[in-house]
Amino acid sequence: MLSEEIVRQFIETQLPDSENVALRNVREHIEKLKIDHEEIFRSQIDIIRTLLAIRQADSILELGTFLGYSTLVFAEHATGRSPKGRVVTIEKELWRTNEAKKLIDATGFEDVVEFKVGDAAEECKALIANHTSFDFIFLDTFEGTYPEMFPFCLELLNVSGILLIDNVLMPIARGWENGENIIERSDGVFAALRRTLQLATAAANFRTCIIPSGSGLLLGVKL
Ligand SMILES: C[S@@+](CC[C@H](N)C(=O)[O-])C[C@H]1O[C@@H](n2cnc3c(N)ncnc32)[C@H](O)[C@@H]1O
Repeated sequence: MLSEEIVRQFIETQLPDSENVALRNVREHIEKLKIDHEEIFRSQIDIIRTLLAIRQADSILELGTFLGYSTLVFAEHATGRSPKGRVVTIEKELWRTNEAKKLIDATGFEDVVEFKVGDAAEECKALIANHTSFDFIFLDTFEGTYPEMFPFCLELLNVSGILLIDNVLMPIARGWENGENIIERSDGVFAALRRTLQLATAAANFRTCIIPSGSGLLLGVKL
């Protein structure tokens, strides 16, 4: 069986670097701030780019901006659409949005991005009330919020729209790192992730699978 760590190392060392100069600058800035790594893995950049290209996404919603690393992947894609697409990204911490804005302003892709500061659930309710919808949604907030967020994402997604949820295998990844078998655990975040997987697999108008990349990506399409 393949080890995810070996696959990640192979992708990051043997294949052409998915990270361009703009993305590298953002990552290096994050490293300088000495915040725990929260951004997507480099090996996930091309998964996202490929999904965006398959869907030909013109409208993208990101829940969980952090410092704008994944936002930049979305902004590059949206800028390449004709006419240009749009990216809405939501983050609850103002300082993170301010940093992300500063970093993305320096890339030339800023005109397609709308930054919103607030709780993702509340912002989603407002978007639904405004009848806004998206071709692609990336859910990457705190894993404990996923069960509450999943129905909002489904509602905000256009038919044939793609939902990608990060870190759905986080407990397994953590357990693997710590040598602990956590498959049977159902407390705290474990329960929230189990519930998210149940919701996603039970949703009538949704086809889904898990990509075992990074800490696990749930990929789904609205039927
Ligand atoms: C894993 S990071 C996002 C990483 C980013 N998508 C990337 O790949 O570069 C999660 C972010 O979601 C934010 N967040 C967590 N819960 C939230 C909520 N309920 N509403 C809005 N943002 C939230 C956190 O402050 C954090 O910056």
